[in-house]
Amino acid sequence: EKGGYDYFMLKEIAEQPKAVADTLLGRIDGAGRLTLDEVRIPDAVLRAADKIVIIACGTAFHAGLIAKYAIEHWTRIPCEVELASEFRYRDPILGQRTLVIAISQSGETMDTLMALRHAREQGAKVLAVCNTNGSTIPRESDAVLYTHAGPEVAVASTKAFLTQLVACYLLALYLGQVRGTKWGDEIHAVVRELARIGDEVERVLETMEPVRALARSLAHKDTVLFLGRHVGYPVALEGALKLKELAYMHAEGFAAGELKHGPIALIEEDLPVVVVVPSPRGRSVLHDKIVSNIQEIRARGARTIVIAEEGDEAVVPYADHLVRIPATPTLLQPLVSTVPLQVFACELATARGNEVDQPRNLAKSVTVE
Ligand code: F6R
Repeated sequence: EKGGYDYFMLKEIAEQPKAVADTLLGRIDGAGRLTLDEVRIPDAVLRAADKIVIIACGTAFHAGLIAKYAIEHWTRIPCEVELASEFRYRDPILGQRTLVIAISQSGETMDTLMALRHAREQGAKVLAVCNTNGSTIPRESDAVLYTHAGPEVAVASTKAFLTQLVACYLLALYLGQVRGTKWGDEIHAVVRELARIGDEVERVLETMEPVRALARSLAHKDTVLFLGRHVGYPVALEGALKLKELAYMHAEGFAAGELKHGPIALIEEDLPVVVVVPSPRGRSVLHDKIVSNIQEIRARGARTIVIAEEGDEAVVPYADHLVRIPATPTLLQPLVSTVPLQVFACELATARGNEVDQPRNLAKSVTVE
């Protein structure tokens, strides 16, 4: 059942190109328009929405953080992302014009379920993004957009995360389409790019051997930090979560701009710091800023592990280790930049002798609050 792989996690990482393609299948027509028939929430309700609230836990929460950038950019609807476990305890402001998106691989996470029940009681419409057919969260939601990752067995989420991103991008684009936002050309470019993204994920997977070797060489370390900006920030959080749960290492993700507000004090000689670099095209201000962040930490002794687009030469002088990813539109970059972080965590777990598919103290589906 592991299809020749040592672990389900390795199999599921390798399945990501297909998972991504399957999640797109039948949802974009020949003219590049989104056809999300499953989103059985009337267009009038989608047009009237004045706020989007995403609720999720763990890795699904990170997908939500990334979705926020896409949703706000393409729809101009304000979007909040909240840990499901915090949501209903703080008297959140919800109403009939609030669209809630509940993201869950299993569809059974109790925190997310309780948050969605609370949202519906307050009159909000709830749309589930879920990987498990007929599970509780989609059954209790107003509509569901399924991710088609196929069964995910390893406790650490990989392919489900990528498909959650794809589903959220589709949803954001669809909302933009329904509401007629001004990003028409950009939306078409993104749709075209999404259609190719499975191949790009495949290309990343083919170049992972140096990442594995690097992971093995760091197996004795206690701490790894992750930095990112824009959508690279939630990617950094996800990279750190993977490392905690699989390698049992102290790992933290930071927004690179926050460095000077505290975390830079953690930098010491030979501390591995993974930096997710935004595209040098388009939002180049962001790119310049992160290059100076890399310089700053390296000047203080950090061992920099830089994840950057092919053709990004500005980072080369400051990268102790350079991991190349294909050039993608900024908002889609997490689909390719997350993959090396998954491989990194999986290999570190193996090198440290940990149980990859069943990390200690964790369960695949968390059905208690
Ligand atoms: C991390 C991981 C967990 C889950 C979280 C939510 O690799 O697997 O953080 O993402 O428990 O689970 P679902 O998506 O099933 O609601």
